[in-house]
Amino acid sequence: METVVSGIRSTGKLHLGNYYGAIQNFIKMQHEYNCYFFIADLHSLTTHPTPSDLYGNVKQVLIEYLAAGIDPEQATIYVQSDVPEVAELYLYLNMNAYLGELERATSFKDKVRANPDNVNAGLLTYPVLMAADILIHKATKVPVGKDQEQHLEMARTFGNRFNRLYNHEYFPEPYAFSYGDKLVKIPGLDGKGKMGKSEGEGNAVYLSDSPEVIRKKVMKAVTDGGPTTENQEKPAEIQNLFDLMKVVSTPDTLQHFDGLYNQCQIRYGDFKKQLAEDMIIATSPIREKINDIANDQPYLRQVARFGAAKARESASKTIREIREIIGFRNF
Ligand code: TYM
Repeated sequence: METVVSGIRSTGKLHLGNYYGAIQNFIKMQHEYNCYFFIADLHSLTTHPTPSDLYGNVKQVLIEYLAAGIDPEQATIYVQSDVPEVAELYLYLNMNAYLGELERATSFKDKVRANPDNVNAGLLTYPVLMAADILIHKATKVPVGKDQEQHLEMARTFGNRFNRLYNHEYFPEPYAFSYGDKLVKIPGLDGKGKMGKSEGEGNAVYLSDSPEVIRKKVMKAVTDGGPTTENQEKPAEIQNLFDLMKVVSTPDTLQHFDGLYNQCQIRYGDFKKQLAEDMIIATSPIREKINDIANDQPYLRQVARFGAAKARESASKTIREIREIIGFRNF
C-alpha cells in the first residue's frame, strides 16, 4: 500500500484554504492509504519562536484535525517534534542541499520580502525539513495545496540526490496529490491573493469562526461597482468570491449568481449573504466538534502518544537503514 505524508504548520487556527487544499484530501485518503498526518511545530519555529504560543498552537491543530474528521484509528496523527528522527534526516539532507537552489525557492523569497529582519537559516532550509518529513516514511503521495508544489519538486531532488550519492535506490519519489484534477488554491477575502494566516485581518475564514464572524468577514470582502456589460470578464476580487462559492456552495447556487453577473443583474449584498451562509453550513459541524474535543485533554494526550509511537516506529527504521547506507558503524 502506498504511503502518504502531509502536515500543517502550527501557527494558529486552520482556515478554509487548509481545509480545501489539504484536509479534505486527508479525510478521504486515510481510508485508502497508509497515512501519516502531522503537526509541523518544528517548521513553525522559523517564524513563531515564542515558547508561550507553541503548545497552544500545536493543540489547536490537533483538535482541528480530529474535529475535521481525521481518524486516529485510520491514520497516524503525530506532532513533528515528537519524532526526533525527522531532525536527524534533515541534518543528513542538508549536507547535499545547495545555497543557490534554496535561495531560489518562491516561499523563501516571499518570506524574505515579508520579513527582511528575520532571514534565518531555518527559513532557507525549510524545504529540506519538509523533504525529511516526507522521506522519513518513504511516502509517494503528499496531499497539499498548490502553494506547496515547488517544495515537492525539491523533496524529489533531495531524495534522488541522496540515492545517487550513495548509489542506492532508497527513497521513492513523492508527488503532490489532490483528488481533483489539479492542486487547489483557495483565494482570500481581501481581493488579492490566496487565503492565508499571515495575509492580514479579514482575509481568512477559520474553521472555528462563529456564524456572526463569518458573516461580518464576508460582507466586508472587497467588491467593485458591478458589471456594466453582459458577459464581461470578472475582476480578480469578484472572481475570488466566485471561486470561494465554487467550493462551499452547490453548483446550482453558483450557476444562479454567475447568470445574474453575466446579465449585469447581480446584487453583491445578496451574493455575499449566500456565500456567508454556505460557508457557515460547511464549517458548522467542524466548529461544533472543535468545541466538544477542545477540553478532552485525556483524549488528546492519548491520540498524540499513540501517533508518536507509530510514527517513530516507521521513522526509526528509516534512520537505521540510512545510517547504514551513509556508513556510520558502531564500535
Ligand atoms: P501550511 O501550514 O502553510 O498549509 C497547510 C496546508 O494547507 C494548504 N493551504 C492551502 N491550500 C489551498 N489554498 C490556500 N489558500 C491554502 N493555504 C494553505 C497548503 O498547501 C498545505 O497543504 N510547509 C507546509 C507544511 C509541511 C508539510 C510537510 C506539508 C511541513 N512539512 C510535509 C506536506 C508534507 C506548510 O507550511 O503548509
